[in-house]
Amino acid sequence: MSARSRYLMCAPEYFDVAYVINPWMAGNINRTSPELARQQWQELYELVQTQATVELVDPRPGLPDMPFTANAGLVLEDRVVLSHFLFPERQGEESYFAEWFAAHDFKVFTMPTQIAFEGAGDALLDRDQRWLWAGYGHRSALDSHGYLAKWLELEVLSLRLVDERFYHLDTCFCPLSRGYLLYYPLAFDEPSRRLIAQRVPPEKRLIVSEQDAVNFACNAVNIQDLVILNQATPQLQEQLQQSGFQVVQSPLGEFMKAGGAAKCLTLRLDEPRQRLTPVIPVVAQRTIILEGHLLDSNLMSRVMDTIQEAGGSFEILEFHAGARPQDLSRAQLLVTAPDLERLEDILTLLIDVGARLPAIETLDATLETVRQQGVAPGDFYTTTIYNTEVRVQGQWYLVQNQRMDGAIVVDDHSRPVQVDCQLLRDLQVGQKVVSGVDGIRTVLKREGRETAEFTFMGSSISSERRVELVVEQIAWELRRLRDQGGKVVVVAGPVVIHTGGGVHLGQLIREGYVQALLGGNAIAVHDIEQSLYGTSLGVDLQRGTPVRGGHRHHLKTINRIRAFGGIAQAVEQGVLTSGVFYECVQRKVPFALAGSIRDDGPLPETQMDLIKAQEHYAKLLQGAQMILMLSSMLHSIGVGNMTPAGVKLVCVDINPAVVTKLADRGSVESTGIVTDVGLFLSLLTRQLHLG
Ligand code: ARG
Repeated sequence: MSARSRYLMCAPEYFDVAYVINPWMAGNINRTSPELARQQWQELYELVQTQATVELVDPRPGLPDMPFTANAGLVLEDRVVLSHFLFPERQGEESYFAEWFAAHDFKVFTMPTQIAFEGAGDALLDRDQRWLWAGYGHRSALDSHGYLAKWLELEVLSLRLVDERFYHLDTCFCPLSRGYLLYYPLAFDEPSRRLIAQRVPPEKRLIVSEQDAVNFACNAVNIQDLVILNQATPQLQEQLQQSGFQVVQSPLGEFMKAGGAAKCLTLRLDEPRQRLTPVIPVVAQRTIILEGHLLDSNLMSRVMDTIQEAGGSFEILEFHAGARPQDLSRAQLLVTAPDLERLEDILTLLIDVGARLPAIETLDATLETVRQQGVAPGDFYTTTIYNTEVRVQGQWYLVQNQRMDGAIVVDDHSRPVQVDCQLLRDLQVGQKVVSGVDGIRTVLKREGRETAEFTFMGSSISSERRVELVVEQIAWELRRLRDQGGKVVVVAGPVVIHTGGGVHLGQLIREGYVQALLGGNAIAVHDIEQSLYGTSLGVDLQRGTPVRGGHRHHLKTINRIRAFGGIAQAVEQGVLTSGVFYECVQRKVPFALAGSIRDDGPLPETQMDLIKAQEHYAKLLQGAQMILMLSSMLHSIGVGNMTPAGVKLVCVDINPAVVTKLADRGSVESTGIVTDVGLFLSLLTRQLHLG
């Protein structure tokens, strides 16, 4: 092998835990033993010296973490990228390390001041120097990776750390000689684990248990076949030995109190460049603009969380806060992601909350052609409930038939250009579909401005105390819509009938408050059973007790309606004379019943072809201004997906989880009410003076 390698270390003369900047330090302030620390460090120092040359940098008082020289910088050949620490507590070390490198003839690179980078703690060379593994998520910023690639001229693979115990890459990840890798996978997010698996073949991946991970087994110094570490279980030692490594444990408990072990206490100074690696552009970046009530609607923090949760990072380039409540704020953010694909994922999420690309950067939407019936091009943009605009030939067009989970189809030959939301299954060969993220923007509603007279409950979930108040508002809105010839659609589950709400819903229909009714087989059967036999699933609704032989009523009901050929016929024949569906037939209020796997019968009207059922629902929902969702999770979710933002939704269910799921659409017009639906309907009809 070549000459002895060189390492940089720093004696622990002033070492201590004096502040808390990682979880290991908590509870350990001033709890280290200087004597023991010195002994442990000395043992490591001598061990490393058996294989390599160790150089020393002078320790400095007041910089207790300076012995962790891995954080001095990142070295490759004669170049060093100096660290710029995230926390001020360690920033004092920077100038001393800089001095040392300059004095030893390194070519020094320094990060821009706003970008944190913690040296070899977060950047580890593949042992064959084919690329650099770089961590981010806790200390080093993702934005630093682009500089590393540029200055060191190599490929950088970004790994996102997600467990705060493993705040530096070298605490959970250690490339070893001969292509091996020692690591703790759960410290990384899923895309990072996938990236590791793509680059390192399975037989070379040595996965450590959590027990070994928390003993910092991955924080190992590897010199040729020697692996020096704090502590390893017999299993891990065995595993390493089988892979041809000699394991030496060098206890470093005192340094563990500061969150570091063997590798942290050393910095390799002679990383050679063995293979020429082409520079591959790493990290993808894009500027976005946000405009609106960024502060009062929490949009700003939502955007920042979204970026980080999706594995990206950001820099706020500009922020202008609206001075008064009615003023809009404006922000410009530079979004960074580890690669283009993830940047697109992040941008898609941001567009959904209203982010835009700056005018100078705005391009027409990318259109890709459908090649297979019912299948969108791979990178298609998936729609949300929010009104969306698409840029075609330099002009913005509003997407028609906006709904969730569709694709955007552009017909740029028609005049005017036609832009439509379509379901995947409806895509035709030759149609052009919007893909990528360019030329797409979401039209955020100017929150609560256009309906001054009536403020809905603003995405809130009301419980008993507030129910009456909310019901009053809903009654007000229903009356207004009826008087103006508006459209209200009710989605209802069988619970409406069980809880005695059927009469009230019937009244609403009779009085013209409902323009369409959506449900499944069950609500219709229960409603009709109630009318024909006075029971609902065999239970006497007046008295609340089961009726002898009542369970047969359900099937007898279905059978009788089938005999007539349908609900309308049963009404015509004078057999069905009351109830929700009777009122629908009488008032000519259209209804759609969507079938399901558990339906018995079903009734002739129940549509068992689900695609047809969805189409029927969608047709009846067209132009709806308000939707009442009454205790039917399944049908309500279906309806929610078909409905663009801007339509008022009222979701009533006894189960708060259902209400949260449905009412939380991130749009202001939805109101959730946690209460018994029968009670709700009776309050509502009372407010409307119906009964
Ligand atoms: N207390 C130090 C810190 O939190 C420990 C650094 C450990 N170094 C490392 N390369 N992991 O910054």
